[in-house]
Amino acid sequence: MKKPVVIDAKTVNVDLQPGILRKDFVWGVSTSSYQIEGATREDGRGLSIWDTYARQKGRIEHGDTADIACDHYHRYPEDIALMKGLGIDAYRFSVAWPRVLPRGRGAVNEKGLDFYDRVIDGVLEAGIEPWLCLYHWDLPQSLGDLGGWTKRDIAGWFADYAALLSRRYGDRVKHFATFNEPCVAILFGYAMSWNAPGVSDRASYLKAVHHLNLAHGGAVDVIRDLVPGASIGIVHNRQPVYPESETPENIHATALLDTHWNLIFTDPQCLAAYPQLAANDIEPYVQAGDMAKICRPIDWIGLNHYSPIYARAEPNSELGFAWGKSPDHNDHPDFRWPIHPDAFRETLMDTWTRYGLPVYVTENGCGDPDAPNATGEIVDERRVNYLRAYIHAMGEAVKQGADVRGYFVWSLLDNFEWGAGFGNRFGLAYVNFETLRRTPKSSYFAYRDMIHRLR
Ligand code: NOJ
Repeated sequence: MKKPVVIDAKTVNVDLQPGILRKDFVWGVSTSSYQIEGATREDGRGLSIWDTYARQKGRIEHGDTADIACDHYHRYPEDIALMKGLGIDAYRFSVAWPRVLPRGRGAVNEKGLDFYDRVIDGVLEAGIEPWLCLYHWDLPQSLGDLGGWTKRDIAGWFADYAALLSRRYGDRVKHFATFNEPCVAILFGYAMSWNAPGVSDRASYLKAVHHLNLAHGGAVDVIRDLVPGASIGIVHNRQPVYPESETPENIHATALLDTHWNLIFTDPQCLAAYPQLAANDIEPYVQAGDMAKICRPIDWIGLNHYSPIYARAEPNSELGFAWGKSPDHNDHPDFRWPIHPDAFRETLMDTWTRYGLPVYVTENGCGDPDAPNATGEIVDERRVNYLRAYIHAMGEAVKQGADVRGYFVWSLLDNFEWGAGFGNRFGLAYVNFETLRRTPKSSYFAYRDMIHRLR
C-alpha cells in the first residue's frame, strides 16, 4: 500500500519550471451552480433534488443548506472581478437545470436564462472563456419525482435541455461539458445515499448509470448539431484505488471500487463497453444499439482529481465494497484527504493512455477549514503547497507524454461542500458566510503568480 506523501509548509523544490506545458495551455477555476448561487427560491427557479435533500434533517453537517450559499446569483460581478484579478483564461461553471426549466421540461424560465446570459457576457468581457457544464447534480425535483436517473426517458429530457442551452448560449460559449462527476452523482445518490436523492438500491443504481450514459451520448450529438465549432467533453473524477490492507477480500473490493468509480462511465463513453466487473449486472438495462449511442466522439476528457482512495470489502453493502481508511488517516481530520501528488501524475497518465483524448484537469484543489488571522488575512500555506506540488506533478505527466491541455482550480470561492456543508473550504477566496464578503487568500495570489510565471 502506498504511503501518502504529506506536504507541509516546508516542502521545497516543487515548482514546475516554465516551458514544459503547451503554449496554449488553459488556466482556469471551476465552480458549480448549486454550490455558489443561492437564490434557490428567486426569479422562478424550480426545486432541485439537492434542495429537497439538504433540507432533510441529518443529511448535511450542521444542517447547512445552499439557500444562500455564496449569493453568487446577486454577486456574480464581484466574482468575475476576482477571476479577472487571477489572470485566468477560462471559467468552468454549471447551469442549474431547474433555474432554466423549473419542472425539468416544458415551460422555460426566461429570468433563469437571462442570469446565465449576464454571467457569460460578464466573463467574456473580462477576457475569460466560459466553459459550461450542463449538469453538476442539481436535477429538477419534478424529474426526480418521476424516477430521476432510474427512468430511461431522462435521456430525452436531457437532450431537450441540452438543445435549449446550445441554442441560447452557443453563439458565445464554445466549450461544453455534458456532466460533472457522473459517478459521484449516481454512486453516492443511488447506491450509498450520501448524495441526493439519497437512495440506496442496487437496481436503481445500475439503471441510473446506464441512463446517464445514454443522456451523455445524446447531449453530445445535440450540442454538436447546434453549436458550430463546439469543443465537447465530460468531466470525470478518477483516482487510483488502493486496498485498505492487502487481504484477498480487500483486493477484490479495490477492483470493484475501481470499476464503479473510475470505469463505469468512462469506458462505455470512450470505449463503447462496460468494464468487465460490471457488464453482467448492467446488461438487463442495455438495449440493442445503446452502446453506439453512448460512445459518441468527444474532443476532450475532463479530470477531477484530489487524492487516491482506499477500499475494503463490505459484503453487506449494495456493491460489495466500502470506503477504506488511508494509511495516514490518524494524522489529519476527516475532511483532509491524503495529499499524494504522484497519484495525480499516475491518474493523468492512466487517463491519457486508456482513452487517448486530450485531458483538461477540470478540478484540483485542497479542502481545509481556513480562518482569518488576527489581521484578517487568510494564510493558507497548506493549499499553496498543495497547488505547487500538484501542478508540478502534472508537469511530470506531461514530460512522460500525457496530452494535458489545461488546469482549473477547485474553486474560486469557498462554497457549499455538499454533505460537509460550509465547514470544508476549497476557495482561493475566503467567503464569510455571515456577511458574504470575499477575501482573497494567500493561495489566490500564489495561483495568480504561478499562472503568470508558467505562461
Ligand atoms: C468534486 C465536485 O465536482 C465538487 O462539486 C466538489 O465540491 C469538489 N469535488 C470537492 O469535493
